[in-house]
Amino acid sequence: MTALSNSPVLEAIRNRRAVRNFDPAHQMTEPEILALLEEARLSPTAFNLQQFRFLVVSDPAQRRKLREASWDQPQVTDASALIVLCADIKAWEKDPEQCWATAPAEIRDLYVGKLIPEFYSGRPQLQRDEGVRSCGLAAYALMMAAEACGLQSCPMDGFDFDQVAEIINLPADHIVVMYVAIGRELAAPGPRLPLLPLQALVAFNRFGPEK
Ligand SMILES: Cc1cc2nc3c(=O)[nH]c(=O)nc-3n(C[C@H](O)[C@H](O)[C@H](O)COP(=O)(O)O)c2cc1C
Repeated sequence: MTALSNSPVLEAIRNRRAVRNFDPAHQMTEPEILALLEEARLSPTAFNLQQFRFLVVSDPAQRRKLREASWDQPQVTDASALIVLCADIKAWEKDPEQCWATAPAEIRDLYVGKLIPEFYSGRPQLQRDEGVRSCGLAAYALMMAAEACGLQSCPMDGFDFDQVAEIINLPADHIVVMYVAIGRELAAPGPRLPLLPLQALVAFNRFGPEK
């Protein structure tokens, strides 16, 4: 591994902050939003199942309803793009073949016919967790893509999940995971809240002594 130095990726990681004051006058076109989502969908998913579904909320009336369901947070209406990241938690059983279409036939048959159903069948918590993992990774990729375009973002889950599901007409086999609001900040956020010391976050090999 080469030593960490400055690179566009590290700059994006270090510069990203959760922005609350977006410029409501700044607009993004649909192709611009789709270009960011093209990058987000490159993020990894278990078994390449790509459970993430990106709901782009452009209708101002829908935005106002979502803001009401989101503790009146201004990002919901003021951001140039509001993406509600949802997960299709049944993607594993609907059409996994399409996610493996280019794999050699024997590999595809093994995964689609055996390993994927064995892993997910009868495990609803795992199905949900996988959706949340996929959307979390995609959300971060989306935020990094926004940084790369000189835009800012805010990850959000400060909302009433049931109300949001109702407003967006969420399919029964999907879950709402989070929003990512994207736009241009009016002013830089204040200093970061404290970061916990690295040694409080990192353990090696196991937590606590060997049993
Ligand atoms: C899952 C998730 C949900 C969040 N929800 C909100 C939210 O509803 N409103 C908000 O202003 N910030 C929200 N944040 C942003 C965090 O408050 C912020 O990331 C954290 O304080 C660290 O600040 P920084 O991102 O600027 O480094 C959320 C972040 C994450 C990861």
